[in-house]
Amino acid sequence: MQPIRVGVVGLGQIAQIMHIPYLHTMAGFAVTAVCDLSPRLVAGVGDLYHVPHRYLDAREMIARAPIDAVVVCSSFDHADIALEAIAHGKHVLVEKPLCESPALAREVATAADAAGVVVMVAYMKRYDPGFVRWQREIAGLREIRLARVHDFCHNNQRVIDDAYDLLTGGDISSDVAEAARARAETRYREALGGDPPPHIVGGYKLALGLGVHDMTILRGSFGDPRAVLFADVSRDGPPTTVAVLDYGSFRCTWEIGNTDTKHMDEELGVWARDAIITLRFPSPYIKNIPTELKVTRLVEGESVTTTTIASYRESFQNELAHFHECVTSGRRPLTDAWEGLRDIELLLEIIQRARPA
Ligand SMILES: NC(=O)c1ccc[n+]([C@@H]2O[C@H](COP(=O)([O-])OP(=O)(O)OC[C@H]3O[C@@H](n4cnc5c(N)ncnc54)[C@H](O)[C@@H]3O)[C@@H](O)[C@H]2O)c1
Repeated sequence: MQPIRVGVVGLGQIAQIMHIPYLHTMAGFAVTAVCDLSPRLVAGVGDLYHVPHRYLDAREMIARAPIDAVVVCSSFDHADIALEAIAHGKHVLVEKPLCESPALAREVATAADAAGVVVMVAYMKRYDPGFVRWQREIAGLREIRLARVHDFCHNNQRVIDDAYDLLTGGDISSDVAEAARARAETRYREALGGDPPPHIVGGYKLALGLGVHDMTILRGSFGDPRAVLFADVSRDGPPTTVAVLDYGSFRCTWEIGNTDTKHMDEELGVWARDAIITLRFPSPYIKNIPTELKVTRLVEGESVTTTTIASYRESFQNELAHFHECVTSGRRPLTDAWEGLRDIELLLEIIQRARPA
């Protein structure tokens, strides 16, 4: 079978660490085109991976390059690039978040269905073997009393600087970079509506940048919450969000923020009558660190805690394998654009709940 020919847009950190190396080595893909606003990155990554077709403009790449699919790893313009790709009949794997607002996400999801192409949001945690194992473990729980999402992200740059020597850009015209940032900023504000205070805009950006991972794994575990009962975004310094979500018979606490450490502190937990189960995620930047599942139960009067490492398989690689399967079989991705939309809607609801009256 011919490999899926891929054009990668955005050749920064996550593309260089995860997507391009895996696309390069997996038999089902061939990276035939790359694109970035930075000429230095296009030349550097293009040379490193012997990519024949190189572009500084995503539209041009989508219109001209010999590609079947676009992998969107840009820092900005996800929806614009996805819509352009869909209009040209290309399949799309788009890094999280799908985009800046529910309205844009709906546009992408609707266009994808109309064109009959695969559009998948790159939520690698949903394809993590530890998460799949957790889903099985929680399925039989009786009387859940609390769920908890806790995600305090490390300082990404410190971790990346330790682990990798990446190619860097830095040669983008400041006008272009500023225009992209301003476009995103306008869209965040439009989604929030009115004249949102700075901490609320900050909280929404954190939600889309980090919390979106947790929303997809939460929904992949327990479905959609019925309502947001409480939410708060801190006003001083970098935003920290706490919230309480209503799941009917139980509540879920939601704690999202950053630290300046090199420790990734991300855990999903559930407390039920007969078990306490937690799933601890590793740094997303370091390959093959397993996600750890801990289960505590009462066994014949004794408290027994087991730790399970389902697999050392990298979740980013599983994600690409799922995308490949969807493109070649016509299967709808587990994390399609409608899923991306629902995550953004719920995150927006949390942040709006935190907004001062
Ligand atoms: N799944 C994960 O765990 C994970 C981890 C990190 C980043 N990400 C996501 O991946 C995306 C990229 O993040 P990053 O950390 O690699 O960012 P980065 O800034 O290191 O790289 C982004 C690159 O995109 C380029 N770019 C921006 N707009 C562009 C456009 N319109 N056309 C072409 N190129 C464009 C920039 O020049 C830059 O080189 C973000 O959406 C981020 O949320 C996901």
